[in-house]
Amino acid sequence: MSRFFARSFEDYKSLYQESTNTPETFWGEFAKESFSWIKPWDSVLEHDLKKPQVSWFAGAQLNITENCIDRHLEKDGNKTAIIFEPNAVDEKAKYITYAELSVAVNKTANLLKSLGVKKGDRICLYMPMVPELAYAVLACARIGAIHSVVFAGFSAKSLADRINDAACKLVLTADGGYRGSKITPLKAITDDALTQCPTIEHVVVLKRTNQKVSMLEGRDIWWHDLYDQQSGNCPVEVMDAEDPLFILYTSGSTGQPKGMVHTCAGYMVYTNFSFRNVFQYQPNDVYWCTADIGWITGHSYIVYGPLSAGATTVMFEGVPSYPDMGRFWQVVEKHKVNILYTAPTAIRALAKCDLSLVTQHDLSSLKTLGTVGEPINKEAWEWYDQNIGKSQCPIVDTWWQTETGGILISPLSGITETIPTFATLPLPGVQPCLMDDNGNEIDEQNAEGKLCIKFPWPSMARTIYGNHKRFKETYYSAFPGLYFTGDGAKRDQNGNYRITGRVDDVVIVSGHNLGTAEIENIIDEHEAVTEAAVVGYPHDIKGNSIYAFVTLSDAHQTKDAKALEQNIKQLVSNTLGPISKPEIIQFCSGLPKTRSGKIMRRILRKVAANELDAFGDISTLLNPECVQEIVDNRKNEMR
Ligand code: WTA
Repeated sequence: MSRFFARSFEDYKSLYQESTNTPETFWGEFAKESFSWIKPWDSVLEHDLKKPQVSWFAGAQLNITENCIDRHLEKDGNKTAIIFEPNAVDEKAKYITYAELSVAVNKTANLLKSLGVKKGDRICLYMPMVPELAYAVLACARIGAIHSVVFAGFSAKSLADRINDAACKLVLTADGGYRGSKITPLKAITDDALTQCPTIEHVVVLKRTNQKVSMLEGRDIWWHDLYDQQSGNCPVEVMDAEDPLFILYTSGSTGQPKGMVHTCAGYMVYTNFSFRNVFQYQPNDVYWCTADIGWITGHSYIVYGPLSAGATTVMFEGVPSYPDMGRFWQVVEKHKVNILYTAPTAIRALAKCDLSLVTQHDLSSLKTLGTVGEPINKEAWEWYDQNIGKSQCPIVDTWWQTETGGILISPLSGITETIPTFATLPLPGVQPCLMDDNGNEIDEQNAEGKLCIKFPWPSMARTIYGNHKRFKETYYSAFPGLYFTGDGAKRDQNGNYRITGRVDDVVIVSGHNLGTAEIENIIDEHEAVTEAAVVGYPHDIKGNSIYAFVTLSDAHQTKDAKALEQNIKQLVSNTLGPISKPEIIQFCSGLPKTRSGKIMRRILRKVAANELDAFGDISTLLNPECVQEIVDNRKNEMR
């Protein structure tokens, strides 16, 4: 067993020490013993966080798919790599071995090549959670094409924006995607998006739901027509350590989403390291991460981390509520899942249901439980612990971000003492710190501040696609020389971290990052609207929900408010997708502004959260009189 995998808290402490004392030796030795390289590196790490410029394993050559697939074939060719659990309970699960995965990925890679895809081309994947999505991700990586997976719940406009930002050449999609009792018409949405996407040459369409779709001659091709004729052997493209592996978009505090760029070697090294340490994966474990591959959690901990570790990873097409709220527990029992990794929003929703939905299933296979995506409240943590883990399974509350590529702060299962609502301690190689508002590091252990990371780690994002300036401004300017996470955190006397939430204009709804500016921009487009301010407020199940304060133009003041409200909600839902739809819209005659004209969202956040007695000083506002009216007309959500 490798010395890089902690088996005790003592191991953890000594690995941590080593990783901060001699980071280059630490990562160099780990990388050397754990992966196959085509050519070794010249230097482990070069960095200047002020620029920021970081390279890990410079000079090395590799292909991540050789590490996720080929090297397992000799010993583990017949081991199940992916268990595919379909949306419908009566459709058979698929058990895909590493040998079968290899053939499928090679054929998909050859399919891409047959359409002229080359190293460095950007390929958009807008697909349901079916095995072909995993094949396509790995096929891109095999030939050096850069994948940009767009979550299949996003609207045509969001898809078009993402395709255009990266100038993608190809879209891979499906006729439709199953999600519970609904079907998302993915091909029709893609068609809609493509009216605005000049760089797309072809659309490859997978048959999944068998619904009628229109195929544009010359542009659109059926997946199976191409796939069936491909060879199952596609040599890997030789990739440099710092060649881009993928782009993944995340919401920012301006309307434009940010295309985070991750590179080959560092990402591979750290997702493997963190997967094995945090979950304490053992060779025969069945591991299930319930995320969608459209998010970073799916990239790092459904596909790359588990497969590079030779694990068996479950891919679930459906939703927790279909055919009923017991589906997760039915799947755990069916596949004898040992490690379950899910989101607080799912746990909160499931905890509201009748407990018989849980108790009718045998969950005795479970050893480790995980959560990710937002702070988990104590009540949900305890419900998860008692009813799912039967107080026998450590809960790993994993804190990380699209930008960090992998888990940075988390207990190691069974090793680190857990504390409800705390992500606890940094992984080896990760050096967090808390900063005060004056830009100074807070030295006391017991403290609260803005969470930053002091030193590079291998899977950190290298840039925002096409916009290094924005990358620097967003993450490396607030505290020069440090990576600023955008999160606030508390630290206890033992160095355990508790994430308190975003300190910027991003709201996390059901685990999805939503940029408030993006939603405001859409509401502002409505003909009746003068201005909108969008904030998050605490919500029992979703963690946060969206509250929009809207001012109307004079001509619309007297019109039917209810209808207008529905109309605006629909506009947001149609444009950005249903997850972005405001829960509450309040019309007001003015929004509180600073003298420089900035909307004081701080006050609106308090109103939305019903904290009406703690506005602080509002005398500096340009228009303090509007605050009372906003408070008087505050709305509660309809339950
Ligand atoms: C939040 C998801 C508290 C945080 C992997 C972060 C969390 C944002 C946790 C990133 C956690 C994620 N506890 N908050 N365990 N995990 N967050 O990019 O605010 O979708 O900045 O990456 O989610 O969300 P993203």
